Amino acid sequence: MQEKATFGSKIGLIAATVGSAVGLGNVWRFPAETQAHGGAAFLIVYILCVLLLGIPVMLGEFSLGRGMKSDAVGVYKKIAPGKAWWIAGAISVTASYLILSFYMVVSGWTLEYFVQSVTGNLFADSSLTQGLTGIEAQDMKYTQKMQEYIASDNAPLIFTYIMILINLAVILMGVKKGIERLSNVLMPILFVVLVIFCFYAFTMPKFGEGISFFLNPDFSKINMSVVVNALGQAFFSLSLGMGILITYSSYFPSSTKLVKTSFTVSLLDMLVAILIGVMIFPAVMSFGLEDHNFAGASLVFVTLPEVFAQMPGSQVWSILFFLLLFVAALTSTISLAEVMVAFLCDRFGLKRQSSCLIVVLPLFVLSSLCSLSQGSLSSFTIFGKTIFDFLDTFATNLLLPLGAIIMCIYLGWFAPKDYLKRELTNNYSFRSVMTPIVSFIIKWCAPLLIGVVMVSQFI
Ligand code: PFF
Repeated sequence: MQEKATFGSKIGLIAATVGSAVGLGNVWRFPAETQAHGGAAFLIVYILCVLLLGIPVMLGEFSLGRGMKSDAVGVYKKIAPGKAWWIAGAISVTASYLILSFYMVVSGWTLEYFVQSVTGNLFADSSLTQGLTGIEAQDMKYTQKMQEYIASDNAPLIFTYIMILINLAVILMGVKKGIERLSNVLMPILFVVLVIFCFYAFTMPKFGEGISFFLNPDFSKINMSVVVNALGQAFFSLSLGMGILITYSSYFPSSTKLVKTSFTVSLLDMLVAILIGVMIFPAVMSFGLEDHNFAGASLVFVTLPEVFAQMPGSQVWSILFFLLLFVAALTSTISLAEVMVAFLCDRFGLKRQSSCLIVVLPLFVLSSLCSLSQGSLSSFTIFGKTIFDFLDTFATNLLLPLGAIIMCIYLGWFAPKDYLKRELTNNYSFRSVMTPIVSFIIKWCAPLLIGVVMVSQFI
């Protein structure tokens, strides 16, 4: 049996965990959701979801991972030997792998846009719009580019493969030398780029209008489905229910203060999401693009390039932005891949190198299918959805909450008495006011609320 790896420093473990949390969810889901669903009113609901459910569930995962020092399945095998609770872990490992297969494709797009920004091709005239000017021509140009870069077959495939290989290189290097070292370099870069953008946004003529467009509170928009969205977004953004936090916390040293770590990670994740909004909306307003589509890929791959094209120093801004996006995506894909790598190492006693290869080889096939489902395989559907959308819905809406609910039921009702308390207080070495609150939420509120959210998506 190999010795269990650990993160080498406090900063390193925070950087890696924040790296997992900060991802495409922060950039292309959060700003659009907030702007569309009541601005600051949505933000309040979102913050409540993070504080009241996200952090307790995160602490549940941390306590299992750090306490049992094993992979997402192994923690249940160790804490409840001979019982079927490990199925919760198996669901999470499956969810993380399926999510990885399409997340890798989207990460490939971010790399492709980064490269196209560096070469300047992103701003070159397209065949449709040669010589034309005006917003409509720009729309056409960037929509056509998106078709080329995302909905075609070859280029997105190549960038997906490059992304898989970069992931492979990092996970092969291991926890300390690969994941931690990379996060220590990339996370500060991400924050610096974000701050540069926010300063620039602050100098824009319509900074105030942009912020009020983003955050203007409208409580009339808050209804049950918005709350469901906010909770889903919180889970997605904090990487919950996927075994990621169980896996990463199994690398935490026993002195790590779990409550403090969970607050730091969640608040930094939220800060990034809000700053992304602060950077996007004043720019969008200042260039008159506020009636554009802010949802998903269109925001990132059409609207924002249009904004950059109008800014002085277009190329520099788009290089910086797609660098930020690439960094966010990379540290998240690595955490998703690590769940399966840890599972194979711990469950089957495999060497890290063999596990990495076993994880990556089928990924080439699965991710290729997801990538092609945006192009020539788009007419191939499962239950009326493309392969990409099917995996997204199945893993994100069903497997992810299911894994989280079973974990909460186990920890709340069946785990050894005081297990949570012992983990949250590092073996009773200090007191924590959070313990009874977290225990209560994990026992009652989390399973009920996550259950309601899960069911409501299917009715
Ligand atoms: N939390 C990251 C994001 O918001 O993009 C990465 C991520 C992990 C997303 C796991 C989704 C997921 F299921």
